[in-house]
Amino acid sequence: MTALITFDEQQGVFHLHNRKISYLLALEEGGVLSHLYFGSAIDSYHGQLRYPRVDRGFSGNLPGHTDRTYSLDTLPQEYSASGDSDYRLPAAIIEHADGSRAARWIFKDYQIVDGKPELAGLPQAFVEDKTEAQTLIINLVDEVSRLELALNYTIYRDRAIITRSSKLTNLGSQAVTIKKLASLQIDFVAKDFESICLPGAHANERHLTRAKVTAGVKSFESRRGSSSHHMNPFLALVEPKTDEFSGEAYGFALVYSGNHKFELEQDQIEQTRLLIGINDYNFSWELKSGESFQTPEVLMTYSDSGLNKMSQAFHHIIRDRVVRSKYKYQQRPILVNNWEATYFDFDEEKLKPIVDDAKKLGIEMFVLDDGWFGHRDNDNSSLGDWTVYKKKFPRGIKHFSDYVHSQGLKFGIWVEPEMISLDSDLYRQHPDYLMQVPNRKPSPSRSQFVLDMSRPEVQENIYQQLSHVLDQGIDYIKWDMNRNISDVYSLGLPPKRQGEIYHRYILGVYALLEKLTTNYPDILFEGCSGGGGRFDAGWAYYMPQSWASDNTDAIARLTIQYGTSLAYPISTMTAHVSAIPNHQTGRKTPLTTRGDVAMSGVFGYELDLTKMTVEEQEAVKQQVAAYKEIRNLVQYGEFYRLKGPHEGNQTAWMFVSADQREAVLFTFQVQAFAQGPLTKTHLAGLNPELIYREEKTAQEYSGAELMKLGIYDPVVHQDYTSKSYYFKAID
Ligand code: GLA
Repeated sequence: MTALITFDEQQGVFHLHNRKISYLLALEEGGVLSHLYFGSAIDSYHGQLRYPRVDRGFSGNLPGHTDRTYSLDTLPQEYSASGDSDYRLPAAIIEHADGSRAARWIFKDYQIVDGKPELAGLPQAFVEDKTEAQTLIINLVDEVSRLELALNYTIYRDRAIITRSSKLTNLGSQAVTIKKLASLQIDFVAKDFESICLPGAHANERHLTRAKVTAGVKSFESRRGSSSHHMNPFLALVEPKTDEFSGEAYGFALVYSGNHKFELEQDQIEQTRLLIGINDYNFSWELKSGESFQTPEVLMTYSDSGLNKMSQAFHHIIRDRVVRSKYKYQQRPILVNNWEATYFDFDEEKLKPIVDDAKKLGIEMFVLDDGWFGHRDNDNSSLGDWTVYKKKFPRGIKHFSDYVHSQGLKFGIWVEPEMISLDSDLYRQHPDYLMQVPNRKPSPSRSQFVLDMSRPEVQENIYQQLSHVLDQGIDYIKWDMNRNISDVYSLGLPPKRQGEIYHRYILGVYALLEKLTTNYPDILFEGCSGGGGRFDAGWAYYMPQSWASDNTDAIARLTIQYGTSLAYPISTMTAHVSAIPNHQTGRKTPLTTRGDVAMSGVFGYELDLTKMTVEEQEAVKQQVAAYKEIRNLVQYGEFYRLKGPHEGNQTAWMFVSADQREAVLFTFQVQAFAQGPLTKTHLAGLNPELIYREEKTAQEYSGAELMKLGIYDPVVHQDYTSKSYYFKAID
């Protein structure tokens, strides 16, 4: 087995490398760990890129040193601390018993191990056998406090992926308080960078947003207790010229679903520091003598040829080595969900005809959304009471699930386990389970409150209730979270440890999910948080798919799904056809366009099938049949973005099979023009030498023609149109 990580003792240089990427770091004078390089693979390193020493005014030097050209304020480092002469943002801030906040990380030793050690209690990328990755653990110490900091770097053998995390252990005799502990720091020397982030809002998630990195500090973060609709835990740094197919791109995705922070600082000499980790907003963590704190991990990738290659590296690692469910490579069922069909106004008798029609049209699963439990007729009550609403299901959930199963469909159900309504038995029995600050009134959001999931007894209560539900013939769970966390306080912790709650909350949710997914391995879990409010790599560890947005409008979805695909594989992204006028935007789009957008993800319907005309039902039947043909390709093929909604009137993307013999292309046009210019779509990822036949037209093309000449987009005098193409190689 060839080594993926080497240490050159003479130069003091660590080199993590495979055929795709290299990462270099070095030991400097005084035991400081410097960053040398992250980028395309190089075979060997001969010391030519050591950081030049230059005297910079007002940049201090190491204690006891007289060399004015050596300063932590400019040196690219692997991990920084606060309280010394590095004035850039620190990776760690630790408060010692005497109130001081200084630390200096000095190299102690290192280990190189095969495989990838597990991070206890956290979602993470894993290995299936120890030969597919190696891990470098570098131990740094702060000699005064005897804190030990382990920096973990795993490089995979066949992927352009490195994972990083850090772990702090208190070997001193007194407790310290962690105020900030980043998972990763990476310092780039003088790069003309642009950042790409994914901000948004409820029903408007993950818009690709690109901006020049300029002097000063910029942060991209969530303080909402979840990864949020508002700023996804993903960032790319790219060159100004980088596009989908060319230019450099560094991508970073945090495997964590709680408060996160990505900080970018361009310093006095235009160097860029990036810090990623748990948000330090209202965060503190008491670390007693002998205890350790493990940060979440970051997946990082480098692409020398644009954003598609960056995204594909993320798609593969998340799909292959983050998602754990038995469904990870299984074709996901086409579902119909009753939310936009009925909202809360349903009962068993009203739902049965939808199930019957679903069966007729080839749909494979019925999902019973919000409103089946407690006495829930609107969103004011019953969260926390996971027992059937007898008015709607007089003979219980099992009876209804038996009906769905008898029609040959799978049966799924919606839950929102982290929440509590004031009007609930759970609240009447356990008012203290509701997270709130003593003597202050908590803030409602959607008339509901958050359970204190940091407490084991709350986790256990919900586990017991949910396991009872799961035993009623359930095949699928949609796990929702319809508000963000506020009024953060836990009765489970003493006053001075209240800064731990945000992180303990998400650890508690992870612990509950670990137990549920282990004990119910056959259930397909779908994540949701008012749509895509918790769409992150951490969540994918437990849930192989997530509802991408409450916005089901086909045109709005182009932007949302395009942005989501920057980091997350298509198999994680669910998309449904809904009724028109669309319930979120009022827009009327053709059924074909709604179908083509939803078929570009994990497909389903979210409307009342019984209200469709015969012709519409026939069209649905055809869509369902068409999706079954391409399902494997869409969910597990290589995804290429060709034209982005942020660039103009058209969007185009395609899916290519691993052997390049099959491809599906979707093109979308938002507005029609009377005399518009002719446009083309150039395909990607095909074998230039193969001849492909487009199945609907029987037209033949070579892969080279499709990629180099492209195909003309249709001239259509109608808004919101789409077209799909299905190519198969012929021998
Ligand atoms: C959230 C989800 C929706 C639906 C409702 C039910 O908004 O994203 O799909 O389940 O909750 O209340």
